[in-house]
Amino acid sequence: MSTMVASICAVLLCLFSHVLGGFYGQPEQVHLSYGEDATTMVVTWVTKDPTNTSIVEYGTNDMNMIAKGVADLFTDGGPEKRIFYTHRVKVMNLTPGQKYMYHCGSHLGWSDIFTFTAMPPGSDWSPRFAVYGDMGNINAQSMGRLQEETQRGHFDAILHVGDMAYNMDTDNARFGDEFMRQVEAVAAYIPYMTCVGNHESAYNFSNYRERFTMPAAGGDGQNLWWSFNIGPAHIIAFSTEVYFYTSYGTAQIMNQFSWIEQDLIEANKPENRQARPWIITMGHRPAYCSNTDGDDCTKHQSIVRTGGGKSPSLETLFYKAGVDLQFWAHEHSYEREWPVYNFKVCNGSLDAPYTNPPAPVHIVTGSAGCQERHDPFIADKPDWSAIRLDDYGYTRMTIHNRTHLYMEQVSDDQDGKIVDKVMLIKDKHGPGTYNCM
Ligand SMILES: *[C@@H]1O[C@H](CO)[C@@H](O)[C@H](O)[C@H]1NC(C)=O
Ligand SMILES: *[C@@H]1O[C@H](CO)[C@@H](O)[C@H](O)[C@H]1NC(C)=O
Ligand SMILES: *[C@@H]1O[C@H](CO)[C@@H](O)[C@H](O)[C@H]1NC(C)=O
Ligand SMILES: *[C@@H]1O[C@H](CO)[C@@H](O)[C@H](O)[C@H]1NC(C)=O
Repeated sequence: MSTMVASICAVLLCLFSHVLGGFYGQPEQVHLSYGEDATTMVVTWVTKDPTNTSIVEYGTNDMNMIAKGVADLFTDGGPEKRIFYTHRVKVMNLTPGQKYMYHCGSHLGWSDIFTFTAMPPGSDWSPRFAVYGDMGNINAQSMGRLQEETQRGHFDAILHVGDMAYNMDTDNARFGDEFMRQVEAVAAYIPYMTCVGNHESAYNFSNYRERFTMPAAGGDGQNLWWSFNIGPAHIIAFSTEVYFYTSYGTAQIMNQFSWIEQDLIEANKPENRQARPWIITMGHRPAYCSNTDGDDCTKHQSIVRTGGGKSPSLETLFYKAGVDLQFWAHEHSYEREWPVYNFKVCNGSLDAPYTNPPAPVHIVTGSAGCQERHDPFIADKPDWSAIRLDDYGYTRMTIHNRTHLYMEQVSDDQDGKIVDKVMLIKDKHGPGTYNCM
C-alpha cells in the first residue's frame, strides 16, 4: 500500500471509529470530593478515550463559568491491560455555601447536569454524613436508599470506609467502572470521601488510587492517607492496609504513622482545636470487633490497635491526641462500642456513657451490602461492646455543634428503621482530656 493510501485509510478509520462508537469520549462515573477548603470542589470522571481537554462548566443560574483540569491515563493490571482516562478538575474560588449546577467533559461529550453545594463557611454549622463501608456491586443493599436520601438533600458528604465494588479490579476493572457508575447518583451531587480497604489491594491499590481524588495537601497524594476540615470537625482517613500488604513497602507504615502524628499535632494547635473540636478518624479494619471470622480485630493484640510491632500503637496515639470518634468497617455488621481504651471500658458515667467519656468511641459500620453477606458475632458479647446488629444499612451522623454529635444506624432490611442511636456529648476536647488507664 502506498503511503498516501495508507494515510487516507488511517484518516477514514479514525473518522469511522468516531462515528461507529469505537471512539468513546463520553464522560462517565462522575464524582465529587472536597478540595483543600470551602472554596474548592473537585470533579473526577472517566472517559475510555483521550479527549484532550478536561472541562467543568458551572454556575449558579447557568453554566457560565469554566474550570479546566488534566487527565491521567490509567492502565489496569489485569490480563487485558484495559485503559481509561481519569479526568480531574479543581473548581476553585467558589462561594462557600452556594449551590451550583455543573456538567463535565469536553467538546467530544458532556455529562448530565448535576448540582453541588460548596462547603459552608467557617466551623459554625452542622455537617450531615452517611458513613459506611463494604458496599459492592452485587447486593449493594443500601445503594437505593443512599441515592434517594442524597438527592433529597439529607447529606453534605459521604464517608466510605473502604471496600468497594468487590472488587474494583474484577473482570479487568469492569467491576470498578460499574461501581462508579452506580454510585454516580450519590457522588455526582455530594463529595464522596473514601479510605482504602483490602478489596482495593490489587495491583498495588491502583484501581483505588487512580479513581479517586482526595484532598492531597499534607496527605500522601495517592488518596491513601489524607485529612480535611468540615464544620466543627477535622477528619483523618488512613490506610489500615499498609499493615497487611507490603506492595507499598514496609516504609509506608512509618510514613503513614508519622504523617498521622504530624496531622494530629497540627489539628491540636489551640487555635485549630478551638475552631474544630471534633477529631474523627476513618480506617477500614477495626481495632476492636466481636465477629466470629478470626479477623485481626478479633484478636486481643490486633495489629491495627497495637501497631503489631511495625509501628507504635495507633490506639495510644489517638488516645493521647484526644481523638473523639473512630469509624471502622471491614466486618459486614454494625457494632457500637462503649468508650474504650486498651480493653478498659471508660463510660462518662453509668447513666450517660457517652457524655464526656474519658476514652475514644469506636463504631464499626461495614454492612452497606455486598455479595459476601453478613459477618456473625461470637455468642458472648465482650464488655466493651454496646450493641451489635447484622442488618444491612449505614450510619447517619450529624455534628450538631461543638458539644453534640449525633449518630443513628439505618436498617435497610427493616425499611429504613433506626435501629440504634447515640448522642456523643463533650464539653472538653483535646490532648490530655482522657483518663482511662
Ligand atoms: C487537542 O488540543 C490541541 C491544543 O489545544 C489542539 O491543537 C488539537 O486540535 C486538539 N485535538 C483534538 C483531537 O481535539
Ligand atoms: C506501589 O505504589 C507506590 C506509589 O505509587 C510506589 O511507591 C511503590 O513502589 C509501588 N510498589 C510496587 C511493588 O509497584
Ligand atoms: C458502661 O455503661 C453501660 C450502659 O450504662 C453499662 O451497661 C456498662 O456496664 C458500663 N460499663 C462499665 C465498665 O461501667
Ligand atoms: C448543641 O446541639 C444540641 C443538640 O442539638 C443542643 O441541644 C445544644 O443547645 C446546642 N448547643 C449550642 C451551644 O447551641
